[in-house]
Amino acid sequence: MASVINGTEAAAAVIEKVKSSAQALEAEAGVVTGLAVVIVGTDPASQAYVGSKSKMAKDCGFKSVQHSLPEETTQQELLALVAQLNADTSIHGILVQLPLPKHLDSEPVIQSILPEKDVDGLHVVNAGKLATGDIDTGLISCTPAGALILVRNVRGEDLSGLSAVVIGRSNLFGKPMGQLLLSRNATVTMAHSRTKDLAKVCAGADILVAAVGRPEMVKGDWVKPGATVIDVGINRVAAPEKGEGKHKLVGDCDFASCEPVAGAITPVPKGVGPMTIAMLMANTVIAAYRKAGKTAPKF
Ligand code: GUN
Repeated sequence: MASVINGTEAAAAVIEKVKSSAQALEAEAGVVTGLAVVIVGTDPASQAYVGSKSKMAKDCGFKSVQHSLPEETTQQELLALVAQLNADTSIHGILVQLPLPKHLDSEPVIQSILPEKDVDGLHVVNAGKLATGDIDTGLISCTPAGALILVRNVRGEDLSGLSAVVIGRSNLFGKPMGQLLLSRNATVTMAHSRTKDLAKVCAGADILVAAVGRPEMVKGDWVKPGATVIDVGINRVAAPEKGEGKHKLVGDCDFASCEPVAGAITPVPKGVGPMTIAMLMANTVIAAYRKAGKTAPKF
């Protein structure tokens, strides 16, 4: 039986530290931390995520600005908004919600955000700092940063001697997750859709991180007994057992078969999910401290 990792509790601890850090910065330097969130179009899931990011920023005592742009926004208009937010000294963090509508090219937009305001950690400067082992001066993508805290809570600060397998190689999650685990001395394998014998690769993992976007793909017999399993998937699937037309959220791991084998496992929901938004707040207050020339809090 695994211990079930409580992401809600871990996220609340991060948020408490964000709040006290933001208060201290305001008291000591007269700086109110500012976050701008930009969304283009009407995708309901993105709208919901962005709404909760803006609300959490307010709860943390930040200046919270949300720009909701219409579907037909042009690349030029979006770049102009980012330029305006780059120049706004009351804004310390800028997040452009992804994915953007198909007619827009997200990469130039992301790269136009000032690296020091890139609270998503997607700018090449921030990705490059993480890749070269500089984890103290850049900004790190929120979901992997949050997932690493959950791993540290179970395994401690130093992962020397432990084998970690990350399934998924995206810029937003898989690549930075692998680099973070490496920075803590884990022996890291990056697995993905073209990996041969994925089940066998996973079975060697002391730390197994799944971010593939396939509902319940990782089965219990892929899990090493006692492993720490971090499930980053959020998949909406039909749940006829709850009634006709009902849905539920499941992860990339089959919880029912993984939980009896794992040593610790994150549930879905209430596992990694709450950590993402907490780390966005953490990155924003870190950016505000740095801008004020002060030593930023560590999370
Ligand atoms: N869409 C889903 N997750 C994220 C995220 O972490 N950042 C941004 N910008 N968009 C997302």
